[in-house]
Amino acid sequence: MATVTFDHVTKKYGEVTAVDDLDLEINDGEFMVLVGPSGCGKTTSLRMIAGLEEISSGTLRIGDRVVNDVAPKDRDIAMVFQSYALYPHMTVRDNLAFGLKLRKVPKSEIERRVKEAADTIQLSNLLDRKPKELSGGQRQRVALGRAIVREPAVFLMDEPLSNLDAKLRVQTRAEIARLHQRLGTTMVYVTHDQVEAMTMGTRIAVMNDGLLQQVGSPQELYDHPVNKFVAGFIGSPSMNFATLTASGTGDAAILTGEGLSIPLPPRLRAAADSVHGKTLIAGFRPEHLDIGDGGPDMAGFRAKADVVEYLGNDELLHLSLEGHDLVAVVSSAHLVRPGDIVSFQLPLDKLHLFDSETGAVIRDDAPFAATA
Ligand SMILES: Nc1ncnc2c1ncn2[C@@H]1O[C@H](COP(=O)(O)OP(=O)(O)O)[C@@H](O)[C@H]1O
Ligand SMILES: [Mg+2]
Repeated sequence: MATVTFDHVTKKYGEVTAVDDLDLEINDGEFMVLVGPSGCGKTTSLRMIAGLEEISSGTLRIGDRVVNDVAPKDRDIAMVFQSYALYPHMTVRDNLAFGLKLRKVPKSEIERRVKEAADTIQLSNLLDRKPKELSGGQRQRVALGRAIVREPAVFLMDEPLSNLDAKLRVQTRAEIARLHQRLGTTMVYVTHDQVEAMTMGTRIAVMNDGLLQQVGSPQELYDHPVNKFVAGFIGSPSMNFATLTASGTGDAAILTGEGLSIPLPPRLRAAADSVHGKTLIAGFRPEHLDIGDGGPDMAGFRAKADVVEYLGNDELLHLSLEGHDLVAVVSSAHLVRPGDIVSFQLPLDKLHLFDSETGAVIRDDAPFAATA
């Protein structure tokens, strides 16, 4: 097992900076997910760990060893890609064993590892089949098995579920999580899908445009996003945002705009008092809105439900408020109908505020000026 450490690592392709001064420490045995939109530098980061891309500057360590110039085959890693490229003419058993044969691992040792891997991910009864006789999910399991037999210090996975249909994706997601629990091996897992990141990661590193935005547990990212990008990226459906103006002071401090009028929560007053008359971005999650008439420590507003999506237990409401769109998720017991004008409430402790210029969160404990 091993840690993986990015120390000010940058990767440039000509003019393009794919990964910009990445500082990230992945702990031994941790399931670290790199997540972010397409093109943000996830695959490049992973390929640098694998040794498939040269590093432009900075230091990369696996365990205590600087690996900047270590060949891929000497890094003790195994990688699973989105396209699982099995050898079509070989059985599952031979697909699993092939890499070990190349490495001249003794036959008895190969047999032991193939058997163990096949047991671990339930391939034992498929060992004599060829890839074309397998379903997509089974093929992806073979690709996983091929990584497992290597018994690496670090697993690297690049969007390994994206070729699977929705149901199989959920199953395989759980299988990979179980695999990690059983093996306890360090995993670095790349995905653009925040649901995958949230459900699988011990910690998540959110990237955008080559830059690391925030690293934390799923709950830390959900509860305390450090900026508007992370706030909007983590959580489904996405956080609502509204541009508001701060006015008044003390108990009378209020944020208004886009049809909303939100008392400034005491915890944010010290930070936001200095932004008198300035615009801020307010953020609140759809699932934190509820139908109701407000009350102490709540903000309230009325909005028209344009579209109602029934989800079983919940319903997802697309609202319009003075021409702005908002989304709310409420209990389907409310039976809202399209066109209804509905009263909503938001607990003020669920309100996030962001600097409208930098997007940085405005924290209760940090003066606003410090984020500018
Ligand atoms: N071989 C390459 N040559 C030039 N640019 C590249 C190369 N590989 C990736 N890039 C660029 O680097 C950035 C990051 O790419 P990538 O790491 O593949 O993103 P992600 O995996 O997050 O979608 C993108 O702008 C991409 O176009
Ligand atoms: Mg990629």
